[in-house]
This record gives sequence, structure tokens and C-alpha cells, in this order.
Amino acid sequence: MHDSAHLHVTGKANYVDDLPVPAMTLYAAIGVSRYAHARVTTLDLDRVRQSPGVMSVMAAQDIPGENLLSFIQADEPVFASTHVACVGQPIFAVAAQSFKQAQMAVNLAAVEYEPLAPVLTVEQALAIDSFVLPSMRLSRGDATQAIEAATHRLEGQLKVGGQEHFYLECQVALAIPNDDGGLCVHSATQYPSYVQQAVARVLGLTRISDVTVMCRRMGGAFGGKETQSTLTACVAALLAAETGQAVKCRLTRQEDMVITGKRHDFIAQYQVGFDDEGKIEGYSLELSSRCGMSADLSGPVNDRAILHSDNCYFLPHVSIVSHRCKTNTVSNTAFRGFGAPQGIWVMEQVIDEIARYLGQDSNEIRKRNFYEPGQRDITPYGMRVEGRLLPEIVSRLETDAGYGKRRAEIDDFNRHNPILKRGLALTPVKFGISFTQTHLNQAGALIHLYADGSVYLNHGGAEMGQGLYTKVAQTVAEELQVDLERITISAADTSKVPNASATAASVGSDLNGKAAQAAARVIKLRLVEFAAKYFDVRPDEVVFMNNRVSIGSQQISFQELIALAYKERISLSATGFYRTPEIGFDRNNFTGRPFLYFSYGAAVSEVVIDTLTGESTLLRVDLLHDCGKSLNPAIDRGQIEGAFLQGAGWLTMEELIWNDAGILQTNAPSSYKIPACSDCPQHFNVTLLNTAPNQEDSVFSSKAVGEPPFMLAISVFQAIKDAIVAAAGHVRRSPRLDAPATPERILNAIQDLHSHN
Ligand code: MTE
Ligand code: MOS
Repeated sequence: MHDSAHLHVTGKANYVDDLPVPAMTLYAAIGVSRYAHARVTTLDLDRVRQSPGVMSVMAAQDIPGENLLSFIQADEPVFASTHVACVGQPIFAVAAQSFKQAQMAVNLAAVEYEPLAPVLTVEQALAIDSFVLPSMRLSRGDATQAIEAATHRLEGQLKVGGQEHFYLECQVALAIPNDDGGLCVHSATQYPSYVQQAVARVLGLTRISDVTVMCRRMGGAFGGKETQSTLTACVAALLAAETGQAVKCRLTRQEDMVITGKRHDFIAQYQVGFDDEGKIEGYSLELSSRCGMSADLSGPVNDRAILHSDNCYFLPHVSIVSHRCKTNTVSNTAFRGFGAPQGIWVMEQVIDEIARYLGQDSNEIRKRNFYEPGQRDITPYGMRVEGRLLPEIVSRLETDAGYGKRRAEIDDFNRHNPILKRGLALTPVKFGISFTQTHLNQAGALIHLYADGSVYLNHGGAEMGQGLYTKVAQTVAEELQVDLERITISAADTSKVPNASATAASVGSDLNGKAAQAAARVIKLRLVEFAAKYFDVRPDEVVFMNNRVSIGSQQISFQELIALAYKERISLSATGFYRTPEIGFDRNNFTGRPFLYFSYGAAVSEVVIDTLTGESTLLRVDLLHDCGKSLNPAIDRGQIEGAFLQGAGWLTMEELIWNDAGILQTNAPSSYKIPACSDCPQHFNVTLLNTAPNQEDSVFSSKAVGEPPFMLAISVFQAIKDAIVAAAGHVRRSPRLDAPATPERILNAIQDLHSHN
């Protein structure tokens, strides 16, 4: 069970906003830009300062250190000064004695703007070459020539929308200053060491060691708290340093939706050449994403989109160009899948187009294009795809889900129902595991044993609900052969493990599990050496098993051994470190081995659409997912179900709409729809592939699970397309359907197909 499951469901779990606060804690509110693009001509904060309860007001010129929020490209300030680049960009902040007073005060600012023309969309940005980063290209062979020479050719443009993270806990931080110029920040963050650096930078501290960042748990993050947790942390820290009092900065839901970045929306232009069998010979792709007003994580997000544009298909000749568009909107950021969902979604549309064009089942086209050992097993970036997991997964799933039989049943249903139409689709996923920025693939851990035999565990990973802390604790329990109850799970804390990478890219348990395992092994080795000497046996006669230790012919409890070791002055504390082996990737040429391994999965989704209203309902899902040898099947199942439904939300109902002035219209749960319990399919058959332990040296042969199943939801989108085609009377053309497949888009797609019949 998840270590905090009972706390989550009873509401007893402490999140940052629930922590007991020090005396005289102040509360912050942030004043933001109302314009997408403008010069700030006047910023008069006098009335703000005079407002009741206000203790401090800070704008750009009051920052003691660097006015820099995102230091990845050093292109985003904490507070805008003369120029604003999106609606919701912070301009100043207030600390008052209550939240209410802070928020009232913010509204009293007199800000005058001279509006400039905003660049809001990808199309507008492309037209004027507005980019946050240089475009990147990955190519192999000669795609243009291969497409020209192919028997069949298709081309088109596709659009896929962004996504609001909608973590239950909005961005929040509590900064507590100490008396020697440093401070401790409780931050809801996936990346405590990044927040630590950001805070030290804005405060102008010469030592980042003067800042401690902690996080026991987050109420969801999904990538949204990888870098963007710096805003509330920096604002709280600035105001705390200025007033000498603790400051809490918490965004309301609406503020969070307006101020923070989201998943990148993409436009894709593709050309594909293929043979009579549907085998791809050449693929040319231009991906353009909306990055917003600064780079943030757009570099690695778009890199991952490129690296997943093959999904699980061999592309002999390929050319992929990726444009990172700069727009006057919030800076888009990490979101579960980190660009891969967009790249894979595009490829799955292309496969679907090929299948419809040839009049063949898309499932067959997919299988023919799979990577195969021998001539067809090298990705466009030069990494070998080992093993043959996907063919096995797909054929098992086809049988278990009754794909062929249900295909016939659905065709029959559709013949007899003029209004409701059903659709079915099977889609596979291959997802690369590791940070593509090689240096991030490292982790540290710290383990203390106390004299009573209890274990204190700390590591660089952050808990956001995904069960990481449980998995790492299990790993240590297994290594030391003690019960899980003996282990105290602690908060992520930059003062215990330094320089930890973000808990992201699904590698939390891979990295931190290995680091904790290493720390446990150091202590265990020390204990073995000690016991061998003390009891005069050989080291291999000291064996840990089930809370006990056999030492030669006798047995003592784990607890007794620790008490003895303490008395004999044996060190009972150790650190562990891990760096991922094998990997190495040159992102300038897009070559090398960016990933330690791939995770695989496939899903069959069945939907029904109402051709009068355009509404769709997900009826049944069967999925088979590869977790290697699962560390915790219950938690992995939760990850798979959650990821799948979040993916289904992205592709069917979650829609971000900005108006012509760059103001987000879908800025609250009333207008932005996420999946609810009732959107869960009635039949949701989740199976973990338990026959394929990880071939790489991972924690007990497990595989990462956090992001890969998100993309299994592409099957829902394909099933909707299938139903649309049925509604239009089975035409040999794919419907024009961009994502998300909202009721409006579904109706339009049906009409569009009808008009071509
Ligand atoms: N699960 C829950 N409950 N909440 C989250 O915020 N984030 C996802 C995934 N699963 C998330 C989640 C994302 S984006 C990632 S990268 C991984 O968890 C990170 O954790 P891991 O590396 O431990 O899997
Ligand atoms: Mo996850 S998008 O890598 O935080």
C-alpha cells in the first residue's frame, strides 16, 4: 500500500499549506500583467503599500540578487519591469498579515500599459520566425528522395492541443528566514535543488548552501512543479528575507491556471511515402510547438518529441525538424510524457491515414512497421531497439481483448444503429527511459540506523502521489531484510542529499531506488564485517533474513545486531550514489544512446459517439503494460489507470482557449473539463506484463511506469476516429480530426467526411 494512502483519503496528509506556521507568518499575493504584450509605462504601488495589513511590497527594482526566475536560458524574470510578455506575468508581490489583505492590496496597484501587438499562436510565431530556441533537426538517409520514390504518398497537417496540469494542490511555498541570512523553504516541488538555486540567485546569496528546500509530498505535480514551483518559492523567499518573517505564497486555482505554464500544443506537417503493404519508406516531419514567452524546459520537451516521433516503427529514411515557437502566452513546461505524447500521437495519425488510404486494418499496418531484429532495429538517432516485446504484447492483447470478434460485433452494431456509432482501436507505445540530458541521470541517498534497529531513509526523490517513497522504502527493506514498518520515510531535503535531479522522466524509482540500495549495501557490508569479526565466523556465514541475522550456527534479531554494533562503535550511517550506466547522447547531432531502456505497452479502446451531439463515451479499455518485474503491482496499477485517464482527458475533453487578446478563457474548472470518475470506462481491464523482467541492470529488474501509460490513451482518440468513419459510411479517407476530440470537432469531422462521400 502507498505509505500515505490512509492520510490521502482521510484528508490527514500534510501538504505545504497544512504545515504549522511560525508566529507572525505573512501571506503573499502576486500582481500580474493584464496584457499579453505591452510596455509598462507606469507602476504606482503607493495605494498597495497603504492598504491594511500590508508589510512589504516588492517589484523588480527591489530584488537584492538577480531578477531571474528561469535560469535555464536566463530569459524569464521573477518580476517584469518595463515590458510584459504574457497575461499573468508577475509584476510585483505583496506580503500582508492575511491572504485576504494581500489579495485586496494587489488590486489597488495603478499600472498603465502601452499595448503592443501580441504573437499568440504557433502560426503567428512561424510567420515572423519568433523562437525561444534554435530549431533542431534529426535526419537519417534521404527522406525527400524516399518519399518521391515510394509507390504511395500522403501529406497533411495535424494539430494537437496543450493541457493544464490541474494538480489538486496549487503552487505553494512557505519561506522561513533564519538569523544568519539563510532560509528554509517548504516548497511543493519536484525539483528541490533547482528551487534552492533559484532562491539563492534572487536573494543574491553567495552560497546556495544557505538555502534549504524541503518537500514531504505534493498533491500532484505531473511535470507542472518541475521548474515552475520557483515562482511561489522565490516570491515567498524575497518577502521573507525583506521582512525577516515567515511568508507563505499560495496561488488560488484561477491564478494557478492563468499564471503557470502547461503542456505544449503542437502543429505537425508531415509527408510519408509507403509501399502497397503500408510499410513506411520515407517520413518527413515538421513539428512546431507553442513554448510561450520563455524557454523554460521547452528544449528538452521538444527534443523528446523528436525522439518519440517514430513511436515503435522503423523509419528507414527520416527527417524531423522541430521549431520552438516564442509566443506571448505563459511559458509552457513539462507535462507527463514531456513532448513524447505529441510526437507519438502524430505518428499514430499517420499510420491511421496509411491504413484508410490502403483500405486495410490499421492494426496490420502497425505490425508491419514494428522494429525487428536485424536490418530494422535502429532508431533514427542510432540506438538499437532490443528484444521483441511489442509483438508479444500486441498479440496477447488482441486475444485477451477479443479484438477480431469485437471488430465484427461493432460493425454489426453500427449497421443497425443510425445515431450511435461505435469505434475500436488498438495502439502500441514505446517510451524511452532516462533524462535525455545525460548528466541528470544521477541520484543520492542517505540512510541512518538508530540503536533500536529503526531505519531513517532519505533520498533526492520527491513524492507527488506516484508512490516513489513506498517503492524506495521497499527496496531498502528488501536489501536489509527488515519489515517495511521499521523504516521511517522522510521528506526530500536539499540539506540531506545535495544536487538531486528533478523527480521526473519517470526515473524516480530507477535512480533513487539504486542510490538507496547502494547506501543500504554499504551499511550491510559494514555489519557483515563487524559480525564476522565479533563472532569469529567467515563473512559469508553472516546472512540477513526476515528481520534476523544468522551468524554461523547462531541467530540473533536485526535489532540485537544493531544494538551490538552501536556498542562496538560501528558507524551506522551511510550515503549511496548512483549514475545510470551505458547512456550517452549528443543532442547537437541527435545521435547516441539517450535511454537506458524502453518501456512498452498497448491498449484497446472502445468508444461510442452520438452523431447528433458529437459526444463520445469510453466504454471499455483493455491494456497490457510492461513494468518489467514490478516493484509494487498495486502502485503500478494506480499509475497506469491514472495516466491513461489523464491521457484520455488530454485527447478528448481538455481544451485551452485563449482569446485574441491572449487572455485564457478556460481558466477555471467550470470552463476547463478534466475527466471525472464517471468518465472512467465501465470495463477497465489493466494487466501488467509479468513475463519480461528488465534486461538492463535496474532495481530488482523493474521498469519505470510514471509516464509511459499516458500515451496508451491515444487508442481512445483512434477509436473515436474509427466511429466517425462508421458514421460517415466507411470511406477510404481518414477524418480530419485534430485533438482534443471535443463534441464540436467530432461533429465537424463527420460532416467533413459526408461532404466527400
Ligand atoms: N502520479 C501522481 N499520482 N501524481 C503525479 O504528479 N506525475 C507523473 C508520474 N505519476 C505524477 C504521477 C510524472 S509527470 C512523472 S515524470 C512521474 O510520476 C515521476 O515520478 P517517478 O519518476 O517516481 O515515476
Ligand atoms: Mo514528468 S513530465 O517528467 O515530471
